[in-house]
Amino acid sequence: MERTHKCGELRLEHAGSQVSLCGWVAKRRDLGGMIFLDIRDRWGLVQVVCYPDSPSYKIADEVRSEYVVALQGVVKAREDNVNPDMPTGEVEVECREMTVLNTAALPPFYITDDVKVDENLRLRYRYLDLRRPGMQANLMLRSATASIFRNFLADHDFIEVETPILTRSTPEGARDFLVPSRVSPGKFYALPQSPQLLKQLLMVAGLERYYQLARCFRDEDLRADRQLEFTQVDIEVSFMGQDEFFALMEELVRKIFRELKGLELKDFPRIPWRTAMEKYGTDKPDLRFGMELVDVSAIAAASQFKVFTCAIEAGGSVRGIKVPAVFSRKELDGLAEQAKLFGAQGLAWMVVEEDGIRSPIAKFFSPSQLLELTDAFSAQPGSTLLFVSDIDTFGVVLPALGALRQELGKQLNLYSETEYRPCWVVDFPLFEYDEEEQRYVAAHHPFTAPVPEDLPKLAADPGSAVAQAYDLVLNGWEIAGGSVRIHTAEVQEAMFKAIGIEPEQAQRQFGFLMEALGFGAPPHRGIAFGFDRLVAILAGENSIRNVIAFPKTNSAFDPMTEAPSEVDALQLAELKIEVKD
Ligand code: AMO
Ligand code: AMP
Repeated sequence: MERTHKCGELRLEHAGSQVSLCGWVAKRRDLGGMIFLDIRDRWGLVQVVCYPDSPSYKIADEVRSEYVVALQGVVKAREDNVNPDMPTGEVEVECREMTVLNTAALPPFYITDDVKVDENLRLRYRYLDLRRPGMQANLMLRSATASIFRNFLADHDFIEVETPILTRSTPEGARDFLVPSRVSPGKFYALPQSPQLLKQLLMVAGLERYYQLARCFRDEDLRADRQLEFTQVDIEVSFMGQDEFFALMEELVRKIFRELKGLELKDFPRIPWRTAMEKYGTDKPDLRFGMELVDVSAIAAASQFKVFTCAIEAGGSVRGIKVPAVFSRKELDGLAEQAKLFGAQGLAWMVVEEDGIRSPIAKFFSPSQLLELTDAFSAQPGSTLLFVSDIDTFGVVLPALGALRQELGKQLNLYSETEYRPCWVVDFPLFEYDEEEQRYVAAHHPFTAPVPEDLPKLAADPGSAVAQAYDLVLNGWEIAGGSVRIHTAEVQEAMFKAIGIEPEQAQRQFGFLMEALGFGAPPHRGIAFGFDRLVAILAGENSIRNVIAFPKTNSAFDPMTEAPSEVDALQLAELKIEVKD
């Protein structure tokens, strides 16, 4: 029986046709006198009916869920029992013949989208989980997204180049995965945290426009938006200014949303990093709703509330948000706990009511100061003001309020899940101070160029140097990040020095790059899209695990293959590796 049609494609126009189908038994109902089967393939489900006078009846009687069958029959219109919930719901196939191609054990969960299944169990039987229509749709969406990237970039003269997986460490700020070399005992390859250096070398090589769907490996703590290995759409160009580059990337993202979601994205505002932090408390602002942070330090400084005045005197600030809701005491305590997770010492609140302000700290403010505060937020009765103060504005006050803003925006339904608001975040700091290591580290990566006027700051005042780095942010997710690269050996050396890498160490670790920069490296820039994150947003999924065929759990484990696993003593011996307890 050669397959003539897909189950999911049958429509009224096929009525009367003789068809051969293959697929899995999704459901079986025995109505005594006739047996209904829902048969599923990648294109969808169709209802098949077997009557007792057909040779298929006996087989239909024996099949169970997830058996694989081939069948032959005639498409019939379902005149008065049309199922409007199924795309094939206007027809059914009256089965003549059926063959069982394979039996199936009882599945550990129902293969449908509408049952909640423990994620560990889903990952343990991922091949069954992936049979669910929703997961198949996610993988198809992923594939379609990749095609759009590829076609768009090819249309714009980019060439796809593969770079090695066994390579040297590229510092992107995570821990490396190391692979021992058998041929050179005691030496290790590092898996790439990204193809950063190699794509820069491709620019030195004169390729001018490169891209790759690149697998990246980072040994870091996993979360909903982070995996140990993930995919980037990695892009690099030479001789291209910011405006042309941004316009090209915007066109690409617009095309993705147009073709996959059928919608036109509006503008891509460019928000300086400092503004993003001060208005939204994060460098990945969700622009779908307001609730912007307000600096009330000047008003708070005049109050009698010691927590506020002390923080301001010590160089810190008091900032707040206006929430369009009122909360119970218990809810406010919960919000304070959340703020504390971000390092805040506490959360002060004022509920604005018809007849005044309800707040444990109102007594520290004069009536005119309270009026100034409510004016600063244009607060109406029925809203709540939340305040955080600390001596560390950028490290504590802003991130704590930013996290509350995001959480409350979701809780209070202040935005629509089907709205998409992109923006560029630009003018990032070049460095961050690492308290543990007592030194500056590159905020993006150490190959990112400072804005030209800040070159002297590399030595003099690293903390205030601004980078030519940019992130593309969508609905609170960082979906891409990139920068202008340093393309001269002198500046690269000064950069290494600023982060405490002495010339000998730079030579040892990055000698090949320094050398290449000396052979006519062109000015170049690039970006990398977090492909898994972008697909998750397109699919409306909260976790990138739902758009990756075989992801790891948050404890970096694959319940299906049970990786990572122990290895043979012989394998270790060959690598001259000994495992200690
Ligand atoms: P960056 O480190 O910002 O830049 O990474 C680029 C994008 O990759 C995504 N991403 C991740 N996705 C899933 N799991 C992870 N663990 C993970 N880490 C990062 C994010 C991020 O925006 N070489 C530079 C790019 C460049 O400068 O061109 C780089 O890797 O969406
Ligand atoms: P206290 O005087 O410590 O009882 O605090 C009075 C109120 O101020 C409580 O609601 C605290 O949660 C809040 N509070 C304490 N520290 C801070 C802070 N750093 N920022 C904002 N509010 C705070």
